[in-house]
Amino acid sequence: MRYRILSLVPLLALPLLGGANDLPDERTSPSVSVEMREATRRIGRSINLGNALEAPVDGEWGLTIRKSHLVSIRDAGFTAVRIPVRWSAHVRRTPRQQIDEKFLSRVDSVIDAALENGLAVILNVHHFEEMYRDPARHEPTLHAIWRQLAAHYKTYDDRLMFELLNEPHDRLDAQTWNAVSSRLIRTVRERDCNRILIIGPARWNDPDLFPSLELPPEDRRLIATFHYYSPFEFTHQGASWVDDSEQWIGTKWSTNSPSAAQIKRDFAQVAQWGSQQGRPILLGEFGTRRQADARSRIAWTRYVRQMAEEHGFAWAYWEFGSDEFGICELPGLRWDEKMRAALLGH
Ligand code: BGC
Repeated sequence: MRYRILSLVPLLALPLLGGANDLPDERTSPSVSVEMREATRRIGRSINLGNALEAPVDGEWGLTIRKSHLVSIRDAGFTAVRIPVRWSAHVRRTPRQQIDEKFLSRVDSVIDAALENGLAVILNVHHFEEMYRDPARHEPTLHAIWRQLAAHYKTYDDRLMFELLNEPHDRLDAQTWNAVSSRLIRTVRERDCNRILIIGPARWNDPDLFPSLELPPEDRRLIATFHYYSPFEFTHQGASWVDDSEQWIGTKWSTNSPSAAQIKRDFAQVAQWGSQQGRPILLGEFGTRRQADARSRIAWTRYVRQMAEEHGFAWAYWEFGSDEFGICELPGLRWDEKMRAALLGH
């Protein structure tokens, strides 16, 4: 069981860096380099291969990624895939904490199929539940994972990017995450100093927490990421892992909903943080469960996607093909054309 804590802190109560009296000094605020703009553009309009390799066992959640899926994703018009992986379930409980070779080559085959189809790839560490509960105890495993991945993928070109950890939360609060992520960056950089790394704020990559996210100022090959599922009662209606979400079933959404203005403000706030910090932004997850009324789902998806694009954020829809948030019917690979248009149309 897992659920997100709804952000109850009103946006304006946070000590935002972007307050009116705290405008960035243009001489000191770094700008996003041409190369990083290019990397963000390369991610562009992407999709999460969710509910597959981040299941405890590959395929256990009813979805096994095949090469044909990557072809279909490319043909549909997406430019990249984010691949959530539960590495922690495939690490040997020995002092070297070696990743199981068979599993690693399985992940290689998915990455290679994506790259062969011209898709950029974001590889992450997903659902490392023990790490959220007890960061001090499990941080060595996270280092062991990234040490191996950084070395293993060193020869891959820069269309492959690493996202250090999905949705830090629980005991991995903002302060702890800042310390852990700076050490993780060092672990990767010792083996691969060029790989583009993606890092998001604590509390499930909550955009309200960007002001508390500390990134090493000298490392300019970082993309900042956040996840967006507001209003949660709409996007997660009927989700089995969210307490009381049954009572949200039937919640609708339209661009006239009061939350539309809030979404706009939230995205403007993220954009402001990004430009003050000189960091490109990736909206790494956003989506609604299939159970939501189709019209509302399409309207929300188009609106959030357009909002991201207006601010120049890359985005990755959550997710491709499961029966939770998916937009492609498997095994026949039939896309929900209206949802596809909401994402990839104008
Ligand atoms: C989680 C999924 C969940 C999705 C939407 C992802 O980060 O890993 O399990 O379905 O968010 O809540």
